[in-house]
Amino acid sequence: MGRIYLDHAATTPPDPRVLDAMWEVYSAHWGNPSSIYLEGQDAHRVLDEARRTCAALLGAAPKEIVFTSGGTESDNAAIRGAAYGQRARGRGDHIVTTQIEHHAVLHTVEQLEREGFRATYVPVDGEGVVDLGALEAAVTPETAVVSIMAANNEVGTLQPVAAAARIARERSPKVVVHTDAVQAAGAVDITPAQLGVDLLSLAGHKLHGPRGIGLLYIKNRTPFQASMLGGSQEKERRAGTENVAGAVGLARAMELAWGEREARGEHVRRLRDRLLFGVPERVPDTVITGPLDPAGRLPNNFSCCFRNVEGESVLLALDLADVAASSGSACTTGALEPSHVLTAMGIDADLAHASLRLTLGHQNTDEEIDRVLELLPAIVGRLRALAGG
Ligand SMILES: Cc1ncc(COP(=O)(O)O)c(C=O)c1O
Repeated sequence: MGRIYLDHAATTPPDPRVLDAMWEVYSAHWGNPSSIYLEGQDAHRVLDEARRTCAALLGAAPKEIVFTSGGTESDNAAIRGAAYGQRARGRGDHIVTTQIEHHAVLHTVEQLEREGFRATYVPVDGEGVVDLGALEAAVTPETAVVSIMAANNEVGTLQPVAAAARIARERSPKVVVHTDAVQAAGAVDITPAQLGVDLLSLAGHKLHGPRGIGLLYIKNRTPFQASMLGGSQEKERRAGTENVAGAVGLARAMELAWGEREARGEHVRRLRDRLLFGVPERVPDTVITGPLDPAGRLPNNFSCCFRNVEGESVLLALDLADVAASSGSACTTGALEPSHVLTAMGIDADLAHASLRLTLGHQNTDEEIDRVLELLPAIVGRLRALAGG
């Protein structure tokens, strides 16, 4: 057996069908879509086709799709764009988000606070589900932007985005609602109309598409100020020569992910459930993090903490045994900080340091899960013995 890749929340191997579509663009449609001559018009047509495909899959109009460089840029552009767009219309300077967002959202909101906006970070419960009562209390008529992720990247919790959007609009009718759907895209229904959102971010490389491309859905008439300034590409909402091959790759990856969603979901859910039930059975003192009900989490997400071990050591041992996995911890300025997500869920720092996240893809097999279920008890047992625990 070769390497076992179980970190699909970090990135996914590109689908060969996506690469074929991109190769075709690089070799035959390489013109600049802004040029007026034939090569430019040709590239423009290909870009338009990609935009129409993405829009149709999201139930949106093509002009509501802006191509970006990925999830981080979409989140930054969405929140900054809406905050400044709203302020220009005198619609308040308050932003509401949650404590467990990705840093692409949190650091953007923190920067906006330094620029004079106010922010409230809504807490979550022990399974990482946003507290809708706290959200209701946080939103006031001065609230200009609400940002709530569709699914969490560490523990896989699916958020009640539609309910949050409804509550936000009751309290602040002109509020702009954004969702970070980077992890949820392709796994669950993220139709903006269904979720009731004005802005939605997603990234190609989490969907077996290419790196360096993402999109931001911007509902027609949503107040929005561009962050990237320069040429008039993307209807002046994102300057810069368009990544046509990336856009085509993203459209193809979305088409495949949407079309194969049920089959992929069923497969990863079954493998994931083997981990969800198998790991605590085999490894004593395993604490599952995120929703215990498998229906409340992304179908491909397994996450847990092991008492009395260092999460990084588990990852290194897994890597030596040819398994690529991840933890919830982020390494900041050389010090290993416990994950802000696990901390917000009320998990103490010691336990949060011992986290493991396994995120599956449709290419994973039962044999690979067998191998992980065999390896983990031995690895955790050995590390605990070494630590004298
Ligand atoms: C929920 C979420 N939002 C945003 C991002 C950032 O996306 P990108 O790496 O494409 O910039 C990620 C990446 O892990 C993510 O999981």
